[in-house]
Amino acid sequence: MYSLTINELSKAQFLAQYWQKQPLLIKGGFKNFVDPIDAEELAGLAMEEGIESRIVTNSDGWQCANGPFEDFSTLGEERSTLLVQAVDHWHPEAAELVEPFRFIPNWRIDDLMVSYSTPGGGVGPHIDQYDVFIIQGAGKRHWRVGKVDKNVQQFSANKGLLQVGPFTAVIDVELEPGDILYIPPNAPHEGYAVEPSLNYSIGFRAPNQTDLLSSFADHLIDHDLGQARYSDEQLTERASRGELTGDEIARLRKLMIAAIEDDNTFLRFISENLSEAKHDKDLLPLDAPLEENQIMDFLSDYPVLHKAGGLRALYIERPDAVILAVEGHSFCLPIKHLDSVKQLCDEQVVATDVLAPNTSCLLFRQTLATLISEGYWFAD
Ligand code: SIN
Ligand code: CO
Repeated sequence: MYSLTINELSKAQFLAQYWQKQPLLIKGGFKNFVDPIDAEELAGLAMEEGIESRIVTNSDGWQCANGPFEDFSTLGEERSTLLVQAVDHWHPEAAELVEPFRFIPNWRIDDLMVSYSTPGGGVGPHIDQYDVFIIQGAGKRHWRVGKVDKNVQQFSANKGLLQVGPFTAVIDVELEPGDILYIPPNAPHEGYAVEPSLNYSIGFRAPNQTDLLSSFADHLIDHDLGQARYSDEQLTERASRGELTGDEIARLRKLMIAAIEDDNTFLRFISENLSEAKHDKDLLPLDAPLEENQIMDFLSDYPVLHKAGGLRALYIERPDAVILAVEGHSFCLPIKHLDSVKQLCDEQVVATDVLAPNTSCLLFRQTLATLISEGYWFAD
C-alpha cells in the first residue's frame, strides 16, 4: 500500500490549484519509498511480445529503438533509458502505485510507464499531451519543468522521438526516492539521471475530437446506425444554383449533431469507447466458461473477486438502468444493481457477498458470468 501526501494540500486543493494548470513538485510524496520492481524485471517485461517498450540513448545524437528486445546491448552504462508502457497490466506489485492516484476518475487513468535510466539518460526536452505524475524510485534524477505553453513547437529529434527547444524552468530539482512531479499537458520537461534511476509515470488519457468523431463514425457503421438522411421538402426556387446557403449548412450540421444527441446511441458508444484498452493485458479467460446457473455457487465458493490488472471498467447511471462498460463491451442492467456495478467499477477487489443478493436476476447472472469467463474479474 502506498500512501500519498501532496505537500500540505488536500486532494481538492490540488485539483483546484494545479490539475491541468501548473506543474508541482511533491517532495516526499511517498515516505520511505520501496520500489515495486527492479531493473532486471523491467528488462524481462521489455523482452515480451505485446508489451510496448523503447530504449532511448543520447550518447551519439538522439537514438530510439522499439522493443521487444532480445538483448540490452544498446542500454549503455551512461546516457540510456529503457521505457516500458502499461507495466500495471502485467505486474501486480507495480500496479499498486496507481491506486493512490485514483482520486482522479478511473476512466482518465491510462497506464503506468516505468523507466530505467543510466547516468545522463533521459528522453530529452519534450511535452506530453496528457497529465503525468512522475515518481522517483531508486536513484536520483535531475528534472527541469517549464510552465504550460500551448504554443510550444515540437520537432522530431529522431523517428518516434518528439522534442521541444530550450525552455525556462519553473521547477529545477534533483528528485530522490519517493519524490513526485506533477506535470500538466503542454508543460515542457526534461529529466536526466544522476545515478541509475527508476521512474514511474502515471499517465492519463483525454480523447481529442478526431479520436471521438472517427470512433463514433465506426460505431455507427458497425451497428448500422446513423441512417437519417438530409431532406429539404421546403425547398424553394432561388437566384443562385452554386450556393450552399447558411440555412442548408445549419440543417446539415443539425443532422450530424442529432446522431450524437441520440442518448441510446451516444451512451453506448461513449461507454464502450472509453472502456476500451489501449494496451494488451494479462487476461486469463476461463477454460470452461461459467454458465449463469453456476454463478451462485461460484460466489459462495470465493470471498472476493479481483479486477484484472489495468482493466478499464466504468458505469453510467440512467434513471432506470445502469450501463456497465468493460474493455469496449457494454451491458445494460436494471437500476437496482447500481450499488454492485459501482463497487465493481470503483474498487479493485469486491466482496462476493455484496454481489450475491443480485443473483436472483437472470441478466445480472449472465453479465457476471461473462465478466468472469472473460477473465475481467477473477477469484483466487
Ligand atoms: C521518463 O521516465 O524517462 C520519461 C517520463 C516523462 O517525461 O514523461
Ligand atoms: Co514526459
